[in-house]
Amino acid sequence: VVMAQVEQVIKVGHLLDVRTGNYQRNKAILVEQGRISAVVDAKDAPAHLPLIDLSSHYVLPGLIDMHVHLTSDPQKHGYRGLVETPTREAIFGVSAASATLKAGFTTVRNLGAAGYADVSLRDAIEEGEIQGPRMRVAAHTICITGGHCDNNLLPHIYNARSAGVANGPDQVRAKVRENIKYGADVIKFAATGGVLSKNTDVNASQYNFEEMKALIDEAHDRGRIVAAHAHGLQGIKRAIKAGVDSIEHGSFIDDEAIQLAKQHGTYLVMDLYVSDFILSEGEKAGILPESLVKEKKVGLLQRQNFQKAVKAGVKMAYGTDAGVYTHGLNGRQFAYMVQWGMTPLQAIQAATVNAGTLLNWKNEQGQQNVGVLEVGAFADLVAVSVDPLVQIKALEQPAVVIKSGQQVL
Ligand code: ARG
Repeated sequence: VVMAQVEQVIKVGHLLDVRTGNYQRNKAILVEQGRISAVVDAKDAPAHLPLIDLSSHYVLPGLIDMHVHLTSDPQKHGYRGLVETPTREAIFGVSAASATLKAGFTTVRNLGAAGYADVSLRDAIEEGEIQGPRMRVAAHTICITGGHCDNNLLPHIYNARSAGVANGPDQVRAKVRENIKYGADVIKFAATGGVLSKNTDVNASQYNFEEMKALIDEAHDRGRIVAAHAHGLQGIKRAIKAGVDSIEHGSFIDDEAIQLAKQHGTYLVMDLYVSDFILSEGEKAGILPESLVKEKKVGLLQRQNFQKAVKAGVKMAYGTDAGVYTHGLNGRQFAYMVQWGMTPLQAIQAATVNAGTLLNWKNEQGQQNVGVLEVGAFADLVAVSVDPLVQIKALEQPAVVIKSGQQVL
């Protein structure tokens, strides 16, 4: 190791290897240009360098939330959202980004925003103007006319339509290209109706197989992973068969679809916490009555099906739909995932190594950028003062958060 360029040393008492669940004792992480250049025994760490001392802490990779909407204000659901503009939403996103980072989530996948507000937010963070997690953004969610991503709140005379609407294989390909042209890192589409959209049926498929295949192939040709919003069973299966990388929500998944996901290597990103917010605070926040009715049919079943999927050994990544509920509370879902069948290690893996692998985001040497504390990865980490494998709730409020080797909390 060439120690000359090391800019920062982070001493770690208990370093969690998220691949195995084993702790390494008394290590030092060496940081060069914001990335990990080596992990050595603490006694061998170079002296006279800036030091962050986490000798009494439990340390794991910075957490990843694979399903957020940083530009969405959880108090502006339904008709309240109609007054929002992309510029206003981008400004809202500044505080949401900061809250998310301070909660220990150093990377997020932002699955849908209007007017490329997510691209602007990502770039402002990357350029160091504001503090926030690394963002991989989807820009406009793609969906059918009247589908889950469309604006279905107003009658025809208002001519309201979301920018992500596309019908037919050619239009969906064009929409993927447009998103990429203006800055999308990942692609998101709606494969079924949703809870929060007006006049959509969570069980009904949106897009036929040819459309899904065209959309996914186009994204993959351009090196982008694809996330499918899907509650209903047929839409889940169709999206998996069309080659989607992750199923979001996955509420009505059955044993056959679980096997299909296993065969195809598809990840499930199931937002187990958000139902609590929708049912207790949703009405005050402007969520439509019809959406509250839908949530009552989805929430519990989704948790039960999550338990089945965990037992079957499907790949899972951590995603919360923060933005529907309060930003910065992303860590609350860990305890729910454990309550519904995961070991604490599995829940941590979902938010670190699994999420990083699904993101498929690598440095020039082909090493994973995020989700692991390994050479080449960004020096992003969280520290807690108790063992999270024993007390998973410790991750709701990390003691220390470091991004690019710099302490942000
Ligand atoms: N954005 C999602 C939708 O509108 C939220 C679903 C939340 N409910 C749940 N049980 N995960 O469909």
